[in-house]
Amino acid sequence: MESWVSVPKVELHAHLNGSIRDSTLLELARTLGEKGTIVFSEVEHVIRKNDRSLKEVFKLFDLIHILTTDHSTLTRITKEVVEDFASENVIYLELRTTPKKNDSIEMTKRSYMDAVIKGLRAITAVDVDFGCHDMESKGSTNLQPINDVNNLSPRKKIYVRLLLSIDRRESTASAMETVKLALEMQELGVVGIDLSGNPVIGEWVTFLPALVFAREQGFRITLHCGEVEICLTSNIMTETISSVDVHHFADLYKEKHPLVLCTDDSGVFSTSLSKEYSLAASSFGIGKEEMLRLAKSAVEFIFSGEEVKRELREIFDSTMKELRL
Ligand code: IMP
Repeated sequence: MESWVSVPKVELHAHLNGSIRDSTLLELARTLGEKGTIVFSEVEHVIRKNDRSLKEVFKLFDLIHILTTDHSTLTRITKEVVEDFASENVIYLELRTTPKKNDSIEMTKRSYMDAVIKGLRAITAVDVDFGCHDMESKGSTNLQPINDVNNLSPRKKIYVRLLLSIDRRESTASAMETVKLALEMQELGVVGIDLSGNPVIGEWVTFLPALVFAREQGFRITLHCGEVEICLTSNIMTETISSVDVHHFADLYKEKHPLVLCTDDSGVFSTSLSKEYSLAASSFGIGKEEMLRLAKSAVEFIFSGEEVKRELREIFDSTMKELRL
């Protein structure tokens, strides 16, 4: 596991509210329990449970949303989630989240996303480049490691880009509102649109106008529809496959089909990107050099431009050189 923590990695499929630390989720549940909003003893086992069916996962998301959908909590979880990815050497993260409205706390889709951006700005433990053009002290676009004056070890740096998700429960108008919000927030690191949510709910035709509009506006689109972003633990835990050795990863990898290892919901499925790399390497007998090549190949599928890709390729090349691969 350790060796996978230290190698650079690219995460392209992570849902914000699915990536919350267990400890934070329990703390939030306890606080809402004390306020009488929920009954803690009724939800504790749902949070602590280790494997759940797809149906149970979506029930858990409803609970998570009750716990997290207020501005200050969103700011906190965004900060923590990015810090967690950075701490395991994820150097580029595409973080997706569904902008939500909640009239009772005056939350609009825009204010939801502003709280997320506030979380990105609040990170001090690592340098964050979220492609924001009004950055003052944060996120220099220079990816050379920055040395602290008193500390010669280089500070960690992570690129973060945002994808706005449309939930399959939404209407055409609501989906369109999300795409318009993405347009408004392009200068704040929003690079694409995602369609996600419970796969047995909703119909394609509902979302088509918004997705077509997003494409016309130049957005990249990612759909939960047999995508080859591979999330091994998520697939095992939700029983999409019976065990890892029968996972389609093996066939796709053998055929050199483009694929990227991702976490999906690192909090909900108690995983990390390093664990996913470790699992793939041990389950499919892939050596370190090949795994690093696989990690590097993810750069070609990011939704950012050539400049960022070039910087990321350089990081992978220098790691390979250091490891004499
Ligand atoms: P959020 O968008 O930040 O609230 O992250 C949680 C949401 O992501 C869930 O409510 C779902 O809509 C979506 N999501 C998370 N995991 C999955 C998945 O495996 N399939 C489809 N949608 C998912």
